[in-house]
Amino acid sequence: MTKIKKTLTQAIAERRATPSFDGTPIPEDDLKQIIDAGLHAPSGYNMQPWRFVVVQSPEQKKRLRAASYNQGKVEEASAVIVACGDADGWRKDLDLMLEQGRKGGMPESYAAQAQTSVSNYLSGFSSGQMQGWLNKNVMLAVAQMMLMAEVMGYDTAPMEGFEQEKVHEVLRLPMSYWVVALLAVGHLKGPDKYDGGRFEMSHTVFGEEFGKPLK
Ligand SMILES: Cc1cc2nc3c(=O)[nH]c(=O)nc-3n(C[C@H](O)[C@H](O)[C@H](O)COP(=O)(O)O)c2cc1C
Repeated sequence: MTKIKKTLTQAIAERRATPSFDGTPIPEDDLKQIIDAGLHAPSGYNMQPWRFVVVQSPEQKKRLRAASYNQGKVEEASAVIVACGDADGWRKDLDLMLEQGRKGGMPESYAAQAQTSVSNYLSGFSSGQMQGWLNKNVMLAVAQMMLMAEVMGYDTAPMEGFEQEKVHEVLRLPMSYWVVALLAVGHLKGPDKYDGGRFEMSHTVFGEEFGKPLK
């Protein structure tokens, strides 16, 4: 049963990038619920290239903090979800994806086409393109986790302030992994961050083509 403390609308409006956490442990069921929300995100070809390392032990949080420009919230949070993408995931998981898809009703014609088109598409990627592809897929899962946590009454902080190689070392990540973001989850300690506000819709949204206002 999902523990709902806020509606999605409230969670979106009230969420702040939490500056400091009180460190209380997070119940395992809640953590699994939050993670599961991320695993339900859509992904290119349903290849689910995300991989997550959940850090909760004080020792490991301390090491992760050192790999994250000494950001205190890494050590204070109840859990830090280290969101990674696996550049080789699709090679290993293509058959699994198709098998699951078939169970859910994937048409055989689509499965046959995906068998070749997935590898044709992804095998041609440069490492920069692969990082871009991983970033967009993994961040969608992170966003779902973040909002589920907020709906459940937790506070969150997404972070890109970390050193790729150092996080690799601390978590003993395989070479094919690309660290996309950290998501700290817990309960706010002290005052929340100010609300930095958002640009007007007319500044960032167009209708039909660039430069035309959305009516
Ligand atoms: C991809 C991403 C990376 C971020 N990295 C950090 C970070 O390393 N440290 C930090 O304190 N805040 C980080 N933030 C939080 C942003 O500064 C924050 O979301 C932004 O200022 C807007 O504030 P709000 O989220 O409270 O509305 C990050 C946010 C995003 C989405």
